[in-house]
Amino acid sequence: MCGIVGYIGPQQAYPILIKGLKRLEYRGYDSAGVALMNDNQILNVYKAKGKVSDLESSIEKKDISGTIGIAHTRWATHGEPCQANAHPHYSSSENLALIHNGIIENYAVLKEKLQKNGYVFQSTTDTEVLVQLIEYIRVSHEIDLLSAVQLALRTVVGAYAIAILDRNNPDEIIAARKSSPLVVGVGDNEFFLASDATPIVEYTNKVIYLDDEEIAVINRNTGLKIVNLKNVEVDHAIQTVSLNLGQLEKNGFPHFMLKEIFDQPSCIMDCMRGRINVEANNVVLSAVIDHSERLLAAKRFIIVACGTSWHAALIGKNLLESFCRIPVEVEYASEFRYRDPILSADDVVIAISQSGETADTLAAIELARSKGAFIYGICNVVGSSIARATHTGSYIHVGPEIGVASTKAFTGQVTVLTMLALTLGRLKKTLSEERYLETVKELASIPEKMKHVLELNEKVKELSKPFTYAHNFIYLGRGYSYPVALEGALKLKEISYIHAEGYPAAEMKHGPIALIDAEMPVVVIATKNGMYEKVLSNIQEIKARQGKVIALVTEGDEIIANVADLCIELPKTLECLEPLITSLPLQLLAYHIAVCKGKNVDQPRNLAKSVTVE
Ligand code: G6P
Repeated sequence: MCGIVGYIGPQQAYPILIKGLKRLEYRGYDSAGVALMNDNQILNVYKAKGKVSDLESSIEKKDISGTIGIAHTRWATHGEPCQANAHPHYSSSENLALIHNGIIENYAVLKEKLQKNGYVFQSTTDTEVLVQLIEYIRVSHEIDLLSAVQLALRTVVGAYAIAILDRNNPDEIIAARKSSPLVVGVGDNEFFLASDATPIVEYTNKVIYLDDEEIAVINRNTGLKIVNLKNVEVDHAIQTVSLNLGQLEKNGFPHFMLKEIFDQPSCIMDCMRGRINVEANNVVLSAVIDHSERLLAAKRFIIVACGTSWHAALIGKNLLESFCRIPVEVEYASEFRYRDPILSADDVVIAISQSGETADTLAAIELARSKGAFIYGICNVVGSSIARATHTGSYIHVGPEIGVASTKAFTGQVTVLTMLALTLGRLKKTLSEERYLETVKELASIPEKMKHVLELNEKVKELSKPFTYAHNFIYLGRGYSYPVALEGALKLKEISYIHAEGYPAAEMKHGPIALIDAEMPVVVIATKNGMYEKVLSNIQEIKARQGKVIALVTEGDEIIANVADLCIELPKTLECLEPLITSLPLQLLAYHIAVCKGKNVDQPRNLAKSVTVE
């Protein structure tokens, strides 16, 4: 949700900033801009509607020199995507240029006050209000920029990660954050700034994650100083990130999404590495061992998440209840945080977030913490805000996910939830040793089975072609497959813009059945498990109304092959592990339909990968 990049050092800033913006384009891509201070102390700001490539073409032949600069790729919150609303925003005097990720909630009141003081606005953004406010405070109080930034940030309500250039101080960038991520990269006599580490790792693996209400003053001559809003200096340990560049490239795939779908066998291996010991038939999650007393004493688990992570949470509920015999509630973080939920120190809240930056999930954690609950995080991005806000947790370790539609993060989350349920179930003795051993062994074999599923790619591609023209889709599943149906429908609507609904299969007759006719494709997860016969009846009901059934079945199933219009045969696994298999063909189906429709699958319209605003 908006990407920020900054550079100060001996190199030309522009190529570093543009490359960085491209790495962060998953965060937003409706407009982009850059501010560069050249050697003559001229502060050039260039902006364009559209993608980073549009910005590049719009500034050919312009002065892009300078060894200090900031850049931004936008996901619009206040004001339509257009050049005027793109960042950076100048202050009235054009002495300051500012980029911002987040929302200034009290911008309207502040804007009115500034307008009364003669400030004129070029855009309809909340960000321009912030830069004008900083300038107003600096001029009216006759104070330096840092003090003005501190005062302004104490006045605003909302979330921000910002970076500012000042024409009068050409050797300094001031950056700050609250509830939106900001990372400082520390190189040799050079510094980088970014919303996450991906634009930085090419140059240095040393980073500092700023905390809320901290300001980084990065000066070419005096180096980095971090202070808080009250100007107290803060010490920060430099951390080492282990991302490699190969993880950030497409590796020959036409889209990041397809690469990430195909990454899943090795990602799930990475996720289990060091945690599952097949020889010893054992699963060890260090966070569970370290906090076993607290986790085993829990009276209830509450899982908070958004989007795809919420679907993983539903699978986690089934796993935890089944293996650990403990009640689990699954909540949309956005609802939970405003619902005045009943929470106590007996509760364990599990927060699931790929990015680790989702604003609603972060707020849900803060609420739960304030009520004394113990918080367990399941995140992908190392060092992210949610990873740092929780008491403990487990990373999913699937590597950076760049495609906006989540794929490998979903299976990584489900894998960690499975390991969590196994570990706790064994400790609680609520899971029989036989079932434990059987599940561990089968979980270890999932990456191989995923490889077999991915061999079906061409088949799924062919099969998807007639559905390019569909206007609606229904996805059905029961038990562990119900959240997979929800996730399959979400994937399709996100990237192909076809309306799709996921339902528990048996609920179909309470409404959706009215929609079924010869035009309605229905994807049914109908694998051979405890629900098989029931789901078969649901398929019959659909066929009786001429619906088109695409069934996911277990290899060798001839019964459904005779009833369904199309079948995708999948390797057999335990029912509780089926989501790790059945979600893959649904990701491929959505991908191929969207590609066939000519959609931009990696950057679908209106979406952002990391939703750092409410
Ligand atoms: C956005 C993304 C989704 C994601 C959701 C939650 O909507 O487009 O793919 O599932 O945010 O994100 P998180 O990073 O918290 O898992």
